[in-house]
Amino acid sequence: MSYYALVPAAGSGARMGGAQPKQYLPLLGQPVLRHTLAALCAVPELAAVFVVLAPDDEVWDSHDWSIFGERLIPLRCGGDSRAASVTNGLRAIQGRVDSEDWVLVHDAARACLTVAQTQKLIAQVDSDPVGGILAIPVADTLKRAIGEDAEPRIETTVPRDALWQAQTPQMFRHGQLLQALEWCPSVTDEASAIEFLGLRPRLVAGDATNLKITYPLDLQLAAWILENRDKP
Ligand code: CTP
Ligand code: MG
Repeated sequence: MSYYALVPAAGSGARMGGAQPKQYLPLLGQPVLRHTLAALCAVPELAAVFVVLAPDDEVWDSHDWSIFGERLIPLRCGGDSRAASVTNGLRAIQGRVDSEDWVLVHDAARACLTVAQTQKLIAQVDSDPVGGILAIPVADTLKRAIGEDAEPRIETTVPRDALWQAQTPQMFRHGQLLQALEWCPSVTDEASAIEFLGLRPRLVAGDATNLKITYPLDLQLAAWILENRDKP
């Protein structure tokens, strides 16, 4: 059984509102995506790292990715949604990957992933019949809102017991994940599709440094994390 990473990187980054898609915005002098791929390419368990690009992506070729060697394989088959990009990527690698092989799907926008977090996921999910994801227990008190977006009010408090915040990587078997996403094309993560099959993916505790860069402030937080987390 082999392990592969699949990185959806075909989004437009609308919430970031930058001049180019957020995966190419500079983070400590390098594109966001380069940090993401550097972490995954440094995980010795991963046989290859596939990155799903938008078919009309013109930025990829303007950067030098040769440092990652032949383990990094771009696929120009991104779709209209994250789920479509992942599904297209899984179809594109069907010939090279066995149906029982593990695929770790990881957002291009989670540039602060560490090798240790990835290896923790692999170690805990490797012997699992279903698969699993990195996630963190919800720490804040949660409120459900009603009313206009401009003037929201609290309708109720949602108990946070047993609530987790999903991250990536999300690790599932290639064949089962492709089948699940073909049945449920409108999910926002891989685990949701697997849940629709009636299965219960494992939750593996990650930490808050594996944030998804979504808004401009997140770029500053990511820069701080990358520069400071290994300091004594
Ligand atoms: N993604 C993708 N294909 C899409 C949409 C998203 O591959 N059609 C990828 C993004 O590139 C990102 C990941 O899925 O790495 C998580 O999605 P998100 O954070 O929502 O990124 P965007 O869709 O680019 O951002 P936004 O929703 O603000 O437009
Ligand atoms: Mg999006």
